[in-house]
Amino acid sequence: MCLAISFPVIHGQNEWFKDKDLTLTGAYYYPEHWNENEWERDLKKMHELGFEFTHFAEFAWAQLEPQEGVYDFSWLDKAVALADKYDLKVVMCTSTATPPVWLSRKYPEILLRDEQGNVMDHGARQHASFASPTYRKLAFRMIEELAKHYGNDSRIIGWQLDNEPAVQFDYGKEALDGFRRFLREKYQDDIRKLNEAWGTAFWSQTYSSFDEINLPQFSLMFMNHHQVLDYRRFAALQTNEFLDEQCRLIKKYAKNQWVTTNYIPDYDKGHIGGSKTLDFMSYTRYMVYGDNEGIGRRGFRIGNPLRIAMANDFFRPVTGTYGVMELQPGQVNWGSINPQPYPGAVRLWLWSVFAGGSDFICTYRFRQPLYGTEQYHYGIVGTDGVTVTLGGHEYEQFMREIRGLRPVAREREAKPADYVKRTTAILWNPENYWSIDRQKQNHTWDTFKHVDKYYRALKSYGAPVDFISEEKDFSRYPVLVVPAYQLADEALVKRWKEYVMEGGNLVLTCRTAQKDRMGRLPEAPFGSMISELTGDKIEFYDLLLPDLPGTVRMDDCDYNWNTWGEILMPQSDNEVWATYTQEFYEGKPAVTFRKLGKGTVTYVGVDTTDGTLERKVLDKLYARLGISVMNLPYGVTMEYRNGFGIVLNYADRPYHFELPQGSKVLIGSQDIPTSGVLVFSVDE
Ligand code: GAL
Repeated sequence: MCLAISFPVIHGQNEWFKDKDLTLTGAYYYPEHWNENEWERDLKKMHELGFEFTHFAEFAWAQLEPQEGVYDFSWLDKAVALADKYDLKVVMCTSTATPPVWLSRKYPEILLRDEQGNVMDHGARQHASFASPTYRKLAFRMIEELAKHYGNDSRIIGWQLDNEPAVQFDYGKEALDGFRRFLREKYQDDIRKLNEAWGTAFWSQTYSSFDEINLPQFSLMFMNHHQVLDYRRFAALQTNEFLDEQCRLIKKYAKNQWVTTNYIPDYDKGHIGGSKTLDFMSYTRYMVYGDNEGIGRRGFRIGNPLRIAMANDFFRPVTGTYGVMELQPGQVNWGSINPQPYPGAVRLWLWSVFAGGSDFICTYRFRQPLYGTEQYHYGIVGTDGVTVTLGGHEYEQFMREIRGLRPVAREREAKPADYVKRTTAILWNPENYWSIDRQKQNHTWDTFKHVDKYYRALKSYGAPVDFISEEKDFSRYPVLVVPAYQLADEALVKRWKEYVMEGGNLVLTCRTAQKDRMGRLPEAPFGSMISELTGDKIEFYDLLLPDLPGTVRMDDCDYNWNTWGEILMPQSDNEVWATYTQEFYEGKPAVTFRKLGKGTVTYVGVDTTDGTLERKVLDKLYARLGISVMNLPYGVTMEYRNGFGIVLNYADRPYHFELPQGSKVLIGSQDIPTSGVLVFSVDE
């Protein structure tokens, strides 16, 4: 088998982590929760189990600044020294998610207010408004002190900002002031421009000054959705600016320390990747919490087979480096039902994170708490502080396995050429989701499910997938899928065209480029922004009742659909790949394909019920392009990194994996049980 080292995709050695380490594994520890005389025992145990770093001070603002302007880092110094004694590096945190009570009482204006006017209070967490100048000032002052103290300390490897920083839909006065400032800047202080962009001639919504504008009410079904779009942009920006400022302060002092934050993979919120000062992204992921997104009777103990894969594929492309900051070691305390994970599942998740190319994995948390909101949350050790839990043992096993592989690890991008050749990008911009979601036209339409139909097919191919934003260079990818990309402009359409002319293979799907960036329909035939590119005009679109679906035929098979279907009028040299077989437009095209320049354009004008048509379209396209694909069943995924193949089995039955020629099993066996992992070496 031939190894491709660099073409076509990016992620290689970075300045923070070494390829030969494969991954570092760490555990959260909160010294402030435990008797000081237990710290040494706990950190020693952490080290003995195989952990290489720990994570401190995430929610400790009250201990770090017990009174306004009075700082105490002495206790943290002791904990850092003990971590160092046991060879544990430290990830330091900024603790802004938990302001001390003196702050909320002295400056109540910092408290978040929701759309209904409810004001949050001290006693939980994440109750302060990122828009509040007072909160920001005090947070930044505390962070600067912390950065001065630890920025030049080689025992600290990096920093995590805040905790799962969210996009706040904050209805407080300061958020409103911020929104008005944002609009003034965006529309150059000219209210006429805003009226034009928001289409306020409609329903007498015209404004005569920026001071008349309020925060849009999401709960009002008919709220001006152009305004909602701008508000969501503003809200995402506010979170990003809060993080950027924290990061800049730390970097004033930090020597050779990285800065990241631990995002929830909220693909729809629009803030991930927006904070450009961060060195890379990391995420938190919980797999088992009471639903059954898994496969079969036991699936609720294992979780959704693509949940970690998608997070990997979403976070990695942002900078090429990523880590996972929180991964559950067992039961959580906050799900609807909190079952035990299936034996082997914790290790399966660890390998799933690794398979995507991560540089570190940290578990939430080392000890199970004895008091507070998270009493029932599992740790690596249980309530006595010393007994290793089931999940703890699975971590131990994973870390042992990683250490065993290190001596034979090759560079990160050592991957087989046929795997690399399948690399596919999915273009994602949450603004499309925001826009469609306010005007779905069919309540059974689901933008995420639409994207997932393509993603699932690609993962069954054993294809590396990158979710990318428009900032990225499309030409690195042999195939670019652009699903339901509703908001576009001429510049973007031009880039798509250039990509195709130069040999790229573009897959555009229904609802793409039907509105401009403000969500307005251009004064032109419906959907015509991309007609020249696809070679299709849209005659009209139709939506059907879920109980009375229509069918689309492709290569003699029929597929059900109801959520969205465009009736296409292709120019004569387009190939028609699928047609509608019912309704008054029977026989008319739903999917077309054309060659253009050195590349191709496939247009899928319909969203089918179970995604099988989408899969068939991709099958046909990849066969045309001569890109060989695998056919892994749902639940089994495969990736390569560092000269290793990793196969993961989330399915409810064993899976037999045929090894590529010349490969050797390193971990597991070719018959992979439920929750099992196979790691093999790739022949050079
Ligand atoms: C995460 C959060 C952690 C912890 C964890 C419990 O969402 O970031 O601080 O609360 O949940 O599972």
